[in-house]
Amino acid sequence: EVVDARGQILLPGFVDMHTHLREPGREDTETIESGSAAAALGGYTAVFAMANTDPVADSVVVTDHVWRRGQEVGLVDVHPVGAITVGLKGKQLAEMATMAAGIGRVKMFSDDGHCVDDPLIMRRALEYSSSLGVLIAQHAEEPRLTVGAVAHEGPTAARLGLAGWPRAAEESIVARDALLARDAGARVHICHASTAGTVELMKWARGQGISITAEVTPHHLLLDDSRLETYDAINKVNPPLREKSDVDALRKGLADGVIDCVATDHAPHAEQDKCCEFSIARPGMLGLETALSIVVDTMVTPGLLDWRGVARVMSERPAEIVGLVDQGRPIEVGEIANLTLVDANSSWTVSGEKLASVAHNTPFEDMTFSSKVTTTVLRGRITVRDGVVANRAGE
Ligand code: NCD
Ligand code: ZN
Ligand code: ZN
Ligand code: ZN
Repeated sequence: EVVDARGQILLPGFVDMHTHLREPGREDTETIESGSAAAALGGYTAVFAMANTDPVADSVVVTDHVWRRGQEVGLVDVHPVGAITVGLKGKQLAEMATMAAGIGRVKMFSDDGHCVDDPLIMRRALEYSSSLGVLIAQHAEEPRLTVGAVAHEGPTAARLGLAGWPRAAEESIVARDALLARDAGARVHICHASTAGTVELMKWARGQGISITAEVTPHHLLLDDSRLETYDAINKVNPPLREKSDVDALRKGLADGVIDCVATDHAPHAEQDKCCEFSIARPGMLGLETALSIVVDTMVTPGLLDWRGVARVMSERPAEIVGLVDQGRPIEVGEIANLTLVDANSSWTVSGEKLASVAHNTPFEDMTFSSKVTTTVLRGRITVRDGVVANRAGE
């Protein structure tokens, strides 16, 4: 199997700590198979599939299914994320130990889509997670501060009357969870950091020696609230697109290592749930196939990150945070190859119709990026060649 890699950049296979694959329950928007193809095309060799499926991944039956199905498809390791509570935002802790001991070996738990807003439940979850050696990932949103289910904040949103998920809704939970993690002697991971204040809180917490990590999404590195001008629901996402000053702080935070890594929060939705009135549309954007290209154009092109840094934020750091032992390490002699090749001089224009996801709606439609993943190798087997899915398991 010969790959022509002339002029290309070699990186360790990417690890996505945050992806929604919608199986079981919403296979009309994504499946483990279609999402695995999207992930491989994006240069990923491991993804963590969020628990807000239907049924919720709050039992070993669901988490083991997700892992097994991913292995059957064979394009990327699909690691299940378990729910923290029975039912998302539940009042009872899920059987985390059972899920951790299953075939899916659950390493991370999250009620993402909902915040564990009850501080007592969060404290118990953190204490339990530290005894189990697993990670709690928090969707930081104080729901009593948001107006309606989904919200926006910023001058554009205010002028357009798109009322609010204020920065304090995110930042108050980041601060609270940093303190709870400190007291529990546990680690906590902040999903989709979106504000300049969260970056400041991360610096503060690190300074206190608290074990807290954070991710940023490609869309929060690229897009700001000026996109809301058109009321196009394609731009609706949790947390909302914020101001340019937040975008700049997130980029700088990622460059400085205050924000640890990039995670896609790939969140496919049906056409009718995105191409409708803003207030009733579902929040979320496709992310897997465009992540690397966005990171390069927002971070590498302006000189904020070098390629070594790309390897760190796309692969090594997420693998470390979640405790993946076989992926995401620097490429070393003797390693089994999980790797990605990037053509840094291959400008391409996004067309939703051509993406591998079941859902095709994307805010990046018609945008042109300067780099593209050409090749992905999972444990020595080529999964993507010349930008096309190559080998599924058994082929
Ligand atoms: C996510 C989804 O659709 O599942 N939506 C989103 O806007 N990010 C849930 C989430 O990550 O909060
Ligand atoms: Zn979330
Ligand atoms: Zn999410
Ligand atoms: Zn289509």
